[in-house]
Amino acid sequence: MVAAACYGVERRLYDEIAKPAAERGWRLAITLTPTAERWFRASGEFDRVASLTDLPVRSESRLPGEPRPHPDPSTFLFVPASASSTAKLALGIADNQALTVLCEALGNPGVHVSVCPQLSPEQARHPAWRGHLATLRGAGAVVTTVSPDQPWTGVLDALPVTGTDRP
Ligand SMILES: Cc1cc2nc3c(=O)[nH]c(=O)nc-3n(C[C@H](O)[C@H](O)[C@H](O)COP(=O)(O)O)c2cc1C
Repeated sequence: MVAAACYGVERRLYDEIAKPAAERGWRLAITLTPTAERWFRASGEFDRVASLTDLPVRSESRLPGEPRPHPDPSTFLFVPASASSTAKLALGIADNQALTVLCEALGNPGVHVSVCPQLSPEQARHPAWRGHLATLRGAGAVVTTVSPDQPWTGVLDALPVTGTDRP
């Protein structure tokens, strides 16, 4: 799973996404955008989220020659997805580790990608926004907008995860 720097992420990711997902028996490979990691570290929430998985929570790329810290998930859940990172994903701009794994997943027909943007009405009125959503859906991603006012947990129910799959 991937999370970006959206309102509430450092408080809500644990309770509304990561813990319910871990309780379903899923092994979590969590990647944060660099800004989201900064928010988790500053709020003291980083270690709590990290405690839900045996895999490292990452936001940085590995060095050449270092082993890949995460296995290849069959399902990617990007929640919350910022307007900025959603736009970059649609354009294929992989300028951090979170976008690198998402862009690769989007180009892999065997991998399910769910993108859950949370954004303001002003951000949604950007002239390129609708085109970005159309691009992502055209590539096979499931796009479901989430909100600061509604629990995010519902997006887990729509994921095609079974057995030992790893979001
Ligand atoms: C307190 C705060 C809350 C924010 N909430 C959102 C949000 O809900 N959605 C969004 O698209 N951007 C939001 N932003 C702006 C993003 O954090 C900003 O665009 C950032 O560059 C996104 O980086 P990332 O996508 O790499 O995590 C917020 C910024 C701040 C400071």
